[in-house]
Parts: sequence; structure tokens; C-alpha cells
Amino acid sequence: MIKYRLAKQEDFEQVLEIENECFKQPYTGKELEYEFNENPVNKIIVAEFEEKIIGFIDFLITFNSSTIMQVAVTNKFRGQGIATQLLSEMEHSFPKEIDDVVETITLEVRESNEAAKALYLKNGYELVVVKKNYYKDGENALYMLKRL
Ligand SMILES: CC(C)(COP(=O)(O)OP(=O)(O)OC[C@H]1O[C@@H](n2cnc3c(N)ncnc32)[C@H](O)[C@@H]1OP(=O)(O)O)[C@@H](O)C(=O)NCCC(=O)NCCS
Repeated sequence: MIKYRLAKQEDFEQVLEIENECFKQPYTGKELEYEFNENPVNKIIVAEFEEKIIGFIDFLITFNSSTIMQVAVTNKFRGQGIATQLLSEMEHSFPKEIDDVVETITLEVRESNEAAKALYLKNGYELVVVKKNYYKDGENALYMLKRL
């Protein structure tokens, strides 16, 4: 059975491994360390199978908005709904206090990333605007938003 829970310090190396496997411009260890331990608005939820981390979602909450920084699932476990479940776990983790309620979720995704685009569209995210030359290698980003 796959478990979903907040990341712990012991997960760091495994999350870094998935980070390096899944992204063209992965966070360095130092950057990921910051997200894990220092960034006060950052949260990471991991998916765990037989005590191994197989995916994660990294997101921020600022006032009434959340931003997805990254979602990744290790190759062997893709296509089984794990990223979809990570998105749902993120939404369930949002604060329930009325003043803090998250109303929108935003993200940027590479224009060529068909799997991620399809994932987000299927989960209620809409294209707001194309950000030209957004990434260091010149690729455009799609800026997407979901209203809760
Ligand atoms: C994008 C990613 C997180 C999807 O993870 P996943 O667990 O395989 O996704 P799910 O199984 O929940 O798929 C949900 C939907 O997304 C779409 N999707 C997922 N993979 C796809 C693919 N390779 N091609 C087209 N659509 C795809 C489908 O619509 C799918 O629904 P379906 O299975 O009913 O057809 C995974 O491919 C990944 O880690 N990629 C590398 C990292 C990345 O690009 N992250 C996103 C940018 S931050």
C-alpha cells in the first residue's frame, strides 16, 4: 500500500535522488536542503511504498494562495495515479482556518512537458498565460491556475 505523509529529514537523500532523476534543472542539494529545513512557507508531501520514497510534491502556501514548486514520481511507479493523489493530499493539507483558506493554486510547467500538462488539466488546472523564455534554456512556461 502506498502511504502519503509529510516529509521528514530522513527522507532528504531519497527525495534528492528523485529530484535528480526527474528534472532537467534539478534543485542542488543545498537548494533542496533550504526547502526541507528553512523555507518557512514550504511543505513537502511524500509517497512511500515499502519504506521507500517513490514520489513527492513540494509546494508553498502564502496567504490565500498555494504554489506548486514540483511534483515528481519515480519512473517505475508512473501511470498509477500517484501524482494525482499527491495533488489531492496537498489540497487536504491546506489550513482549515477561515482566514487562511487557500483559494487558488498556481504553477509553472514547461511547454513541452506533455505528461505534467495532462496531469494538471485533468485535475482542474487551467492555462492562464504562456510565459515566454521562462526557463534558463529558453523554453516557455505555461502558467496554470486552479480555483478551489
Ligand atoms: C508528471 C508526473 C508527475 C506524472 O506522475 P504520474 O504518477 O505518472 O501521474 P498520474 O498517474 O497521476 O497521471 C494522471 C494523469 O496525468 C496524465 N499523464 C500522466 N503521465 C502521462 C504521460 N506520460 N503522457 C500523457 N499524459 C500523462 C494522464 O492524463 C493521467 O491520467 P490517466 O492515467 O487517467 O490517463 C511524472 O510523469 C513525473 O514525475 N515526471 C517528471 C517530473 C515532472 O515533469 N514533474 C512536473 C513538473 S513540476
